[in-house]
Amino acid sequence: MQVFREKKPLIEAIQKEKSNGNTIGLVPTMGALHDGHISLVQQAVQQSNQVVVSVFVNPTQFDNPEDLEKYPRTLERDLELLEKTGADIWVFAPTANELYGKKIKSEHFDFDGLDKVMEGKFRNGHFNGVGTVVKKLFETITPDKAFFGEKDYQQLQIVRKLTEKTELPVEIVGCPILREDSGLARSSRNERLNSQNREKAAFIYETLQKTKELFGTKSADYIHNWVSERFENYPYLELEYFEIANSRTLEKINRKRKGNQYRAFIAAYADDIRLIDNIALDN
Ligand code: PAF
Repeated sequence: MQVFREKKPLIEAIQKEKSNGNTIGLVPTMGALHDGHISLVQQAVQQSNQVVVSVFVNPTQFDNPEDLEKYPRTLERDLELLEKTGADIWVFAPTANELYGKKIKSEHFDFDGLDKVMEGKFRNGHFNGVGTVVKKLFETITPDKAFFGEKDYQQLQIVRKLTEKTELPVEIVGCPILREDSGLARSSRNERLNSQNREKAAFIYETLQKTKELFGTKSADYIHNWVSERFENYPYLELEYFEIANSRTLEKINRKRKGNQYRAFIAAYADDIRLIDNIALDN
């Protein structure tokens, strides 16, 4: 494993790999790695000759300075986890000035409305920040493939849109959600849940699975009401949103149409910890 703090030596090393005909796979992360990230790294190892994992807590995607401050920074532990994969991974862990230069600012993107719903509604400027850093990482690392988890499904669609619009030649690979035994989607935030909340949070995925069952026979309105009531009667979690949307455009469903694919999305709080999850409804 090699750790690069600066762009220049990394770019040189990548150019060398590419000139030998090797492909580069990128797994962008903000660190605080867990099994979910490691499953992305394993996908990348299978599909590329050299894997780069970026570990960078990106300031421009936080709408709240306190969140940015509190975000866990655990590079030593992250490196140990990556080491355990047994793969020869390159880690890119720059400072904000190294990656951004002097101006740590978001670019503005037109994501064709993908950023106006769900997470975008509740997290001001978040997706412009994600787009900005992902574009910088793609331009610096020039990966053949980049791997993103389906847990942040909206982010995955936005990154696909970004590459379509900027015409950056990178293939975006979406990777399935990794779950705890209870069904709770793996997330760095799970570590902050107390043991009762961790157990009770499995309710989110149970609700999504039941949504999938109901989707075969019931209308989206019916399911919306059913989910709202279910959360109202469940004292351990507070629902922020539930949506059923077109998997590609993320538009709210009006009526099911043949040939379209749909997903259900939930964001909910366990005390002050915000959890998100989603499920494909068509397979
Ligand atoms: O999903 C994340 O951890 C971040 O949003 C990403 C893609 C690494 C960009 O900072």
